[in-house]
Amino acid sequence: MVSRVIPVESFDLVVFGATGDLAKRKILPGLYRRYVGGQIPEGARIIGAARAEMDDAGFRLLAEAAITEFVDAGKRQGDLVARFLDHLTYVAIDAKGDAGWDRLKVAMRDGVVQAFYFSVAPALFGDLAERLHRFAIATPEARIVVEKPFGRDLETARALNATLASHFTEKQIYRIDHYLGKETVQNLMAVRFANILFEPLWNARHVDHVQITVAETVGVGGRGAYYDKSGAMRDMVQNHMMQLLCLIAMEAPYRFDPDAVRDEKLKVIHALEPVGAEDIVRGQYRATKDAPGYVQDAENPASTTESYVALKVNIANWRWKGTPFYLRTGKKLRARASEIAIVFKEVPHSIFGDAEGWRENVMAIRLQPNEGMTLSVMIKEPGPGGMRLTEVPLDMSFAEALGEDGADIPDAYERLIMDVIRGNQTLFMRGDEVEAAWAWTDPVIAGWEARGDRPKAYDPGSSGPEDALMLLHRDGRRWREIRE
Ligand code: BG6
Repeated sequence: MVSRVIPVESFDLVVFGATGDLAKRKILPGLYRRYVGGQIPEGARIIGAARAEMDDAGFRLLAEAAITEFVDAGKRQGDLVARFLDHLTYVAIDAKGDAGWDRLKVAMRDGVVQAFYFSVAPALFGDLAERLHRFAIATPEARIVVEKPFGRDLETARALNATLASHFTEKQIYRIDHYLGKETVQNLMAVRFANILFEPLWNARHVDHVQITVAETVGVGGRGAYYDKSGAMRDMVQNHMMQLLCLIAMEAPYRFDPDAVRDEKLKVIHALEPVGAEDIVRGQYRATKDAPGYVQDAENPASTTESYVALKVNIANWRWKGTPFYLRTGKKLRARASEIAIVFKEVPHSIFGDAEGWRENVMAIRLQPNEGMTLSVMIKEPGPGGMRLTEVPLDMSFAEALGEDGADIPDAYERLIMDVIRGNQTLFMRGDEVEAAWAWTDPVIAGWEARGDRPKAYDPGSSGPEDALMLLHRDGRRWREIRE
């Protein structure tokens, strides 16, 4: 299979927060991989900007160290790294003062795509936007990229949208949710809308329920200060899991076009029913004799923040009324495994009577690791002895199915940064979408705060708190096993 590399125009990409963690782990290595992939044109420039005093050579050393740490050795052959580093320059700036901004202005060129990546704390978004404007650095076509957390509730998200809107139009604002850059997440749209097979079944008549699981093995050690103010609901559900739910539940957009796609996702968010106390379980991992628990990791002994949350979500529209979506996500669980499972209903009538072995069909879409799709189907158990049924998987690993191309699945950030340069907003959240997601999330959080609910303790390495099992058991269903 031949890779189709879509060329991009020449650009100036300014990375604010260029010495920070995200830049080192994701942005700079991601840009390098795209360079190896032939997508960074010779004229492109990447300008690091941060408070630290440093010259171009210092920034190149920092970038080289990041690439060495986070890019496979196989991609660092010959003089590729050195040639990539030639694209990098650095400007020291003060986000809250005036220092450095004139130099940044001089560094920018006319006539190329301009993008500004705000890889900084959200409290600085407004300062950066205001200075890009005041120092007349950004052109009217320039793009800005902002990271989550996009607010911590509806009010702060609105304020942030208003601040950005006073300097940039919606067409210029790229709100990143890196889940949308994951190859399998994009594949959800391809599978749903490029095949005739699934659509007739994709509704409450045929789908019993949907399970969305994002399980992680890591704890919150090292970022407890941020996480403790956020918790799983704000950190994962309001954004990443909401996006997954939207892509599963939305109607077909009339075209694969940014606003057409985002309009359909927005309708799903508007149709979400409020979540009652009985439909939510929060958890917090406890300490073991060898490892600290959540409260130690968060350095907050009295913390009631959840490191796990499971919810039953209902969508009040024609397609989904009566088909619940069960969502769960947590830290320190038994495996790093994210999947979406569409669990279909029983056949209307079994011609085999009570044939042993019958199970419902399940379409499982694995987001990570080993991205792929499995469709479980019933067949006859081989051999004599009458009609016994058995379940077999139609299993597809994208990496195997696509050969070399599949093995080289780009990281979410690579894809998204290139989309910014190309000016394609399809995989970025629109302001109204973010606000609608908070408008649904806020009352859920306010509900448990008003009730004074405390999260249930769960063992690290488990599947989460016992109570989460009940969420499905009482509906006569069960969670799928969390495994890699
Ligand atoms: C981030 C969250 O947005 O996503 C983290 O803040 C979480 O808490 C991470 O660990 C998960 O991303 P991924 O790509 O590893 O599934």
